[in-house]
Amino acid sequence: MKETNSIEVRNLTKKYGKFTSVDSINFEVKEGEVFGFLGANGAGKSTTIKMLCGILEPTSGDASVGGFSVKKEPDKIKRIIGYMSQKFSLYNDLTVNENINFFGGMYGLENSRMDERKKWVIKIANLEGKENTLAKQLSGGFKQRLALGCAVIHEPEIVFLDEPTGGVDPISRRNFWDLINDLSQRGTTVFVTTHYLDEAEYCNRIMMINAGKIIAGGSPKELKTNYLNKTILEIECENVDEAITILDSTGWIDNSAYFGKYIHATISSKENTGERINDLNKLLNEKGIIVKRIDRIMPSLEDVFVNLLEPKEK
Ligand SMILES: Nc1ncnc2c1ncn2[C@@H]1O[C@H](COP(=O)(O)OP(=O)(O)OP(=O)(O)O)[C@@H](O)[C@H]1O
Ligand SMILES: [Mg+2]
Repeated sequence: MKETNSIEVRNLTKKYGKFTSVDSINFEVKEGEVFGFLGANGAGKSTTIKMLCGILEPTSGDASVGGFSVKKEPDKIKRIIGYMSQKFSLYNDLTVNENINFFGGMYGLENSRMDERKKWVIKIANLEGKENTLAKQLSGGFKQRLALGCAVIHEPEIVFLDEPTGGVDPISRRNFWDLINDLSQRGTTVFVTTHYLDEAEYCNRIMMINAGKIIAGGSPKELKTNYLNKTILEIECENVDEAITILDSTGWIDNSAYFGKYIHATISSKENTGERINDLNKLLNEKGIIVKRIDRIMPSLEDVFVNLLEPKEK
């Protein structure tokens, strides 16, 4: 991977009246990398992406995208990027072919180049034989792949994908990510927003945004080691609600949260893990809660995120 920056964001801010949607954020995206922009609903992901695509003017700060300023040269940016928006990506009442013709035409493709790129989109989206199907009749997974194909039909340097896998089943999501990796292998910079933490694991680097502010950044591995210098215990027990209340009252558990049907409890790495597991078994048993197992586990990005959002002073 090259070390040139494709995107440089400097104090980028968007305010709506008194409300600050994106609050002076700073980061860089390297050429050819898959960059994940991670945050909960309302965190500021779409607002940031729209500013980087040159379709929403920042209140202050600036960003350089492919060498152009979003403030001064938004029209130049539009020529070198692809954008798949969160809400709209395809015309439902047009067929697969018509959608591809529309987007190709919009990006200025003609004649043999158009034919060649159309074949490519059909191929990567697995839509051979479905060229005349209406977009609205395609299943979610096909739609997302077609939308991605249309967003990169003109082979842009940088592509912005705003929650591209929302509402799509896990297998289709996996296929979609294979496609994202293919693009990155060819040198395209991929900026993708998600609130699926498992997807963030596939990114080269991630920034986490919360309430308009960057709260952490790095590779998935760096995030897990730098931001979570703690021990995570996974607890499988009955009466999970009651168990969490008991864990919260110990004084030595920094954080406890639901993880599917289990609990993840975070303790300081200074604690003796073996002793603490015994303490927990005893404590929960005393309160009549049957514990099936307590294991020390590797932190996931979700653990990092939960702990960053709910820090507890001890
Ligand atoms: N046009 C607008 N006017 C006022 N507030 C807005 C506007 N657009 C966005 N916001 C607010 O800015 C905040 C960030 O919105 P944004 O859409 O960027 O979040 P997001 O991270 O994309 O969320 P989601 O995961 O739900 O798509 C939200 O609180 C939202 O209500
Ligand atoms: Mg959004």
